[in-house]
Amino acid sequence: MQKVIPAILTSDSKELKEKLELFKGESQWMHIDVMDGKFVPNTSASLFALEDASEFFNLEIHLMVQNPEAYLEDCREIGAKRVVFHAETVENISAFLEKAQQFEFQTAVALNPETAISPFPEVLRNVLLMAIHPGFQGQEFLPLVLQKIADTKKLSPQLIVGVDGGVKKENIQSVFQAGADYAVVGSGVMEAEDPVVAFKALEEMVK
Ligand code: DX5
Ligand code: ZN
Repeated sequence: MQKVIPAILTSDSKELKEKLELFKGESQWMHIDVMDGKFVPNTSASLFALEDASEFFNLEIHLMVQNPEAYLEDCREIGAKRVVFHAETVENISAFLEKAQQFEFQTAVALNPETAISPFPEVLRNVLLMAIHPGFQGQEFLPLVLQKIADTKKLSPQLIVGVDGGVKKENIQSVFQAGADYAVVGSGVMEAEDPVVAFKALEEMVK
């Protein structure tokens, strides 16, 4: 499993394309942040601006939107490998997961820092624990999430646990020590002088 997944968060389709271009052949996975200006106070480029990106990457689409159901067809069309929706946006997580099973992509549930679900639904395979309040890159990692990672792994060792937000070279090792399976990294790579070099350096740190 790829342990570090770079993240693109932008409302500018030109910037989206440039960042994708940079990582072609360098990262198998790419995390794409999708926002509707309602669930979070920010917006993103259209999913269709991804064009043929799924030919080059396994796309993890992070839906920070009020109505994730409305995006599932589009996620299929753009060839998403994994679609992440927020627990806070659906009435019944199990029912939503079952509905999403008609699509080829994998699914995961994102939990905001203050959200807990217990017990985890049977059908759940993957969670994405937010270590920031979503909407923007470059925020401070909330250390309380380290305990949440450990608790989640203890409760459900078979669950794949991803962590998203505020991960950088200063804390990435603690995220994996706590038990995470993968970390999503935005500004920690994208703000570096050479994003690919920064990404490779993080991968090296958690090998
Ligand atoms: C936040 C997004 C994150 C973000 C991560 O709303 O869901 O995926 O791109 O960026 P950093 O690593 O800068 O917090
Ligand atoms: Zn994200």
